[in-house]
Amino acid sequence: MVGVTSFYHNSPQFSIFLTNFPSYPIIIMTEEGLTLKKFEFNEKEGVLCDRQEIGGMKMNKKVIAIVGSYRKGGITDQTVDAILKAVQQKGGQVEKISLTEKRIEFCTNCRKCAADDPEKRRGKCIFNDDMEEILSKIDEASGLVFASPVNFGNITAIMKRFIERLIVYAYWPWTGKFPKRRIKERDKKAILVTSSAAPAFIGRVLMPCALKTMKEPVGLTGAKVIKTIYSGLVCIEEKQKLNKKQLKVAESAGASLFT
Ligand SMILES: Cc1cc2nc3c(=O)[nH]c(=O)nc-3n(C[C@H](O)[C@H](O)[C@H](O)COP(=O)(O)O)c2cc1C
Repeated sequence: MVGVTSFYHNSPQFSIFLTNFPSYPIIIMTEEGLTLKKFEFNEKEGVLCDRQEIGGMKMNKKVIAIVGSYRKGGITDQTVDAILKAVQQKGGQVEKISLTEKRIEFCTNCRKCAADDPEKRRGKCIFNDDMEEILSKIDEASGLVFASPVNFGNITAIMKRFIERLIVYAYWPWTGKFPKRRIKERDKKAILVTSSAAPAFIGRVLMPCALKTMKEPVGLTGAKVIKTIYSGLVCIEEKQKLNKKQLKVAESAGASLFT
């Protein structure tokens, strides 16, 4: 938990506070919201200098949803919409990213990103595709939603392809036996969403892999999973709507991104 230890500067445009949080010792407060900054004090020049290439993380109450369903308006998509609507009602900004619309290459395990400077928030990938834009949005968000239906017991192939590219948030050169998290703190909140033909209570027990598969990678981005949503019996009609209970669960989860 970041705690403010002292007040440092005030002006009409912004205020600066010092925190007890070693990785992010400075909080800058502007009208747009809070920014946690990785700065250090340069005694020689008497100024604050940015210590990192990606030095700040905006805590601007923005929720980014990543949807790995193949169906627009399907159950997974409707669940995400209900979550995001609740976020908007609380005054937050939202953006939904449908992976079917994005160009995302498969991770080739070249380890270039994973071997990149361990001080960086994320390593640089060799591909120049839509991932960079998505990752920048994830970095700036205060909340995340990862959503995928259950296909053959696990997340969809497009969600898996996206998730494998989150290895940029790990430090894992060829000599390393296992990957290490680059981001130690978990200052974002995340909700995981899945759906299946099977009833939810059976699916959660017999097909837990979709939620489990999304949990670790979402954590690598610096997020803590606060809720999982599992909608079952979703194949009764082609254009099935969320029932009242499913809708309520999604709305309450969305609202909880702000508590
Ligand atoms: C290829 C494929 C595999 C599926 N595998 C499962 C499964 O293993 N278990 C299950 O309960 N439902 C399975 N389903 C049903 C989907 O989970 C269900 O249609 C989906 O949750 C609906 O989400 P959507 O409305 O976002 O498309 C499968 C559907 C497809 C197309």
